[in-house]
Amino acid sequence: MSQLKAITCKAAIFRDANQPLSIESVIIDVPLADHVRIKMISAGICASDGHIKWGHMKTSNLPMVLGHEGLALVESVGPEVKQLQAGDLVLTNIMSQCDQCKDCQDRSSNFCEKDGFQIRNASTNKKLEDGTGVWGFCRLGVFSEYVLLKQSQVVKIDPRLNKENCCIISCAVMTGFFSATNLAKVSPNSTACVIGLGAIGLNAVFGCKFNGAQNIIAIDINNSKKAIALEFGATEFVNPQELDRPVEQYLKEKYGGVHYAIECIGNQGVMESAFKALKPTGTLALVGVGGKTLNFPAIEMLTGRTVAGGFLGKKRSDEGFNQLGEMYLNGQYNIDRLVTHRFSLEQINDAFQLLKEGKCIRSIIVF
Ligand code: APR
Ligand code: ZN
Repeated sequence: MSQLKAITCKAAIFRDANQPLSIESVIIDVPLADHVRIKMISAGICASDGHIKWGHMKTSNLPMVLGHEGLALVESVGPEVKQLQAGDLVLTNIMSQCDQCKDCQDRSSNFCEKDGFQIRNASTNKKLEDGTGVWGFCRLGVFSEYVLLKQSQVVKIDPRLNKENCCIISCAVMTGFFSATNLAKVSPNSTACVIGLGAIGLNAVFGCKFNGAQNIIAIDINNSKKAIALEFGATEFVNPQELDRPVEQYLKEKYGGVHYAIECIGNQGVMESAFKALKPTGTLALVGVGGKTLNFPAIEMLTGRTVAGGFLGKKRSDEGFNQLGEMYLNGQYNIDRLVTHRFSLEQINDAFQLLKEGKCIRSIIVF
């Protein structure tokens, strides 16, 4: 233990939405108490990181390292860490749980008041060489060669998942798949629509198929998403901009509305339109990050409509990551198909540009 030293490594630093991320040296301290230090293998570029990078979501926690979707090896652990050791393969976890509080005893949710998702209190777990603290997005900040985290911010997974593409299980696959199967609870023979076919939405499409939905309408304004949506289980692709009427009206006329609508963009107008597409007992699952105050007529809720929300599909990460990992290893889940581009950390600004232009499904940084 005593021979552990602080590590100096490279990280992509965010200071201002109008500037590219800059690759700089950061210092990662020795893990104390219940902390672990991880060495990144790969990290996905998610639209949530983009919201900060492009200034759609403001933060005063600067400088910051973005990135929350990561695959890593444990490099060293603090003296109180019992369940993890150097060499373990882990995924980073935005919904960390202390596993002791009342919230954590409730196995139906992944929210923990104590340890949980506190984006606004994100900690500084890195330093610049002049000693300035560096914040981590979602308290993580995985666009860095090494990261110092609490043990609950990582989940140990099967060592056979040590494949660069598997980093996307940590956010895109987990969020999309469980938003359909666990949050919306899509039922067999139902009609479901998924709006926004990024990596999150495509995994939601697959979750609808996995749960046996009969009609799966994949909706996006970008026609290049059609082929892959059909591959992942969509029965129909709709571009709302090519319809002569609002998409909710189209869905009402063709299917009598949908049992499930899963919004994977974070657009307030789209969320409200998705609500209008619901059958009288339908469920709207809110997945995309964004929107301010939503307007739904109360009377329309009284017939039995539900609006559901939850990060990572409201599924506990320890259960979800391992279930998805097993599906990948069994050949049941084509996660590799979703990773369309690979970049080095130095090329990270190009990766964000590709996402902004809608030209990738998921890009990953390979360390
Ligand atoms: N109608 C339909 N589709 C749209 C619309 C719209 N008005 N606006 C955008 N889209 C589509 C885009 O064309 C794109 O295919 O939504 C998709 C969004 O995908 P990505 O940008 O790749 O985003 P992703 O990483 O999948 O994240 C989606 O979930 O985690 C959150 O913060 C994240 O809010 C974001 C959402
Ligand atoms: Zn994400």
